[in-house]
Amino acid sequence: MEQYIEKLIEQMTLEEKVAQMQQISANMADKALRNKFIEMGTVGSFLHVLGSETADYTTPAENSRLKISPIFGIDAIHGHALLKEATVFPSQLALACTFDDNLLEEIGYATAKEVCADGLDWVFSPVLCLGRDLRWGRIDETFGEDYYLASRLGSAIINGYQKDNLVAACAKHYLGYGEATGGRDSYDTEITERYAREIFLKPFKAAVDAGCMTFMTAYGTIDGKPLTASRKWITEILKEELGFDGFIVTDWDNYKSLVTCLHTAENIEEACVDGVTAGNDMAMFTCDFYENTLKAVKSGKIPESAINESVRRILRVKARLGLLDGTRARPPKSVIGCEEHKKLNYKAAVDSAVLLKNNGILPLKAAKKIAVIGENAVSVRAQYGDWTYFSHPDPKPEATAKEKTYTLLKGVKEVYPSSEIVYSQGYSISGEETEDMFNKAIDTAESAEVVIAVLGDNLDWNGEGRDIVNPVLRGRQIELIKELNAKGKKIICVLVNGKPLVISELEKYCDALIETFNGGDMCGLAVAKLIKGEENFSGKLPISFPNEVGSHPNYYNQYEHWHGGRYKDAQKECLFPFGFGLSYSKFAYSEITLDKDEFGKDESVRVSVTVENQSDTDGFETVQLYFKDKVCKMLTPVRQLIDYKKVFIKAGQKIKVEFELPIDRLGYYDENCNYRVDGGDFTLFVSGNGKDFKETAFRVN
Ligand code: NOJ
Repeated sequence: MEQYIEKLIEQMTLEEKVAQMQQISANMADKALRNKFIEMGTVGSFLHVLGSETADYTTPAENSRLKISPIFGIDAIHGHALLKEATVFPSQLALACTFDDNLLEEIGYATAKEVCADGLDWVFSPVLCLGRDLRWGRIDETFGEDYYLASRLGSAIINGYQKDNLVAACAKHYLGYGEATGGRDSYDTEITERYAREIFLKPFKAAVDAGCMTFMTAYGTIDGKPLTASRKWITEILKEELGFDGFIVTDWDNYKSLVTCLHTAENIEEACVDGVTAGNDMAMFTCDFYENTLKAVKSGKIPESAINESVRRILRVKARLGLLDGTRARPPKSVIGCEEHKKLNYKAAVDSAVLLKNNGILPLKAAKKIAVIGENAVSVRAQYGDWTYFSHPDPKPEATAKEKTYTLLKGVKEVYPSSEIVYSQGYSISGEETEDMFNKAIDTAESAEVVIAVLGDNLDWNGEGRDIVNPVLRGRQIELIKELNAKGKKIICVLVNGKPLVISELEKYCDALIETFNGGDMCGLAVAKLIKGEENFSGKLPISFPNEVGSHPNYYNQYEHWHGGRYKDAQKECLFPFGFGLSYSKFAYSEITLDKDEFGKDESVRVSVTVENQSDTDGFETVQLYFKDKVCKMLTPVRQLIDYKKVFIKAGQKIKVEFELPIDRLGYYDENCNYRVDGGDFTLFVSGNGKDFKETAFRVN
């Protein structure tokens, strides 16, 4: 393959090579310019084209001199969801609640089949940024706050996407994008190289190890240096040190923003010189890239060897996908939204729901009359979250709900066929509720035995360009629940929202609380069955829930604080920690057993713990293993997740769960950014809920 690619590069003109590095958007405003690029027949890639439109783009390529197919990229972020007929899986944040690598791989595979069958080649997924600042608009797109969980789940979904070379995955946004200062997307971050290596680089390294074919450069900067122009982060660290052999695409218009927003280049030509010599291989959207890069190569500002290297990488990915020799095979279109994917999606929705509170009201086996209350009980848009045909592009005019999508109201009606189900909206997230709307909901609930209140947020408060200061329940949502509680109603709250909200007050006034985030097509059915007890809860939080709006940072793996690490006017512990989630099963943990007490640096610790299901309900439990380096020359977090296993335990049974933990994974980066594993004492913690820990210690010599 490499020889074939070299030969092809030898035959290519400079113009053909630079065109391979250009990606053009199907939706750009200047259609005449877009069409000019299409007609060239040599442009490397197009984005946001749907399968039904690809022929317009491929025909000129087929008629071109070298007939190199373009690669079509799409934001298939949780399913091929920009296409209405396709399966809309739960959002990445919801899927992270499953702590299930196999499920993520299956979802990646199903999505890849749908994307490939539609005629496309490349998904801009997974997002490996961490969701550590709730103000940031794109928390819903992350696997949560922890780099280890993001590394595992990211690798799993990449394996699924790239199975059988169905599509290329794209690890994004490299690097530190979620850590934008103040949660304000984008450009500056307050991270250093050492800190980036300690936390943010790890999921991306895992992506390289999983063979991820492409990476996307973030909009932002690290320590003042734009990633787009950073030879150090792109070439030296990603390509040379980590050994990434695929290609790197910039994020949207990054070249232009070097000039207009980051002000590190005087003009586009200078931006192209900076970006190409840094090691970016493809330019997303910036249409001036082609001409300016050509100019810069001709005047010697960019060496042709840099162009050859980028083209080599792009062609390598195209070759792997079978785009160069006409061997690209595609599944039949019937896989799109098929029954098998629907079943998988249902499982994903069941497994990603997290039970946060249950005072005994659940499972609700039967009820004569159930009042379903809330805007989000009927809002497909809120349930889907970002990156579906409802919101992209801008939004599609035909964005009406799919018939087969289960909202909460639809699910409850189906799961409780003999109950009378009444519905009322009650509140408006945009704050447009009238007194009448509010009172009607109270009246509707009055005669019902139990209320299922579906609360949360929607896309007005989530997503790119929608950072917020107050992650709260908007409109009169809390007031409504308080009022219902005062009337003595039994209330089951279901949250449909993009990110953790401050729900400490709500928690006091409801009998049960279920978090679904953005649960996809099947969420309503899955949650109704969970409420009834026809399914069991197993989801765990991949992100902590704060007590107060201002409790930043709120993630679990913080450092110790001299003054106790708390704000004077807030309690230290968060409301629900990372790893938390209840179940109808009741699991009890034994003490931790290690094979030895002392280890050499090249050895592994064998950790075991027995978990007993002390209930009469079968269930899945996620056994979480954390560690702490007790004395270290650099600051280390109070606790860091280092492994987890999801196990099925039958009612009344116990099983032994074992972990093999290589000592060389317990290291840290010193002030010179060298990875070190020092001897000394370590603590291990095992937990099933992120707050009750079994603890033991060992020594490394
Ligand atoms: C900008 C977003 O940051 C990125 O995640 C997305 O893949 C591209 N636009 C393409 O839509």
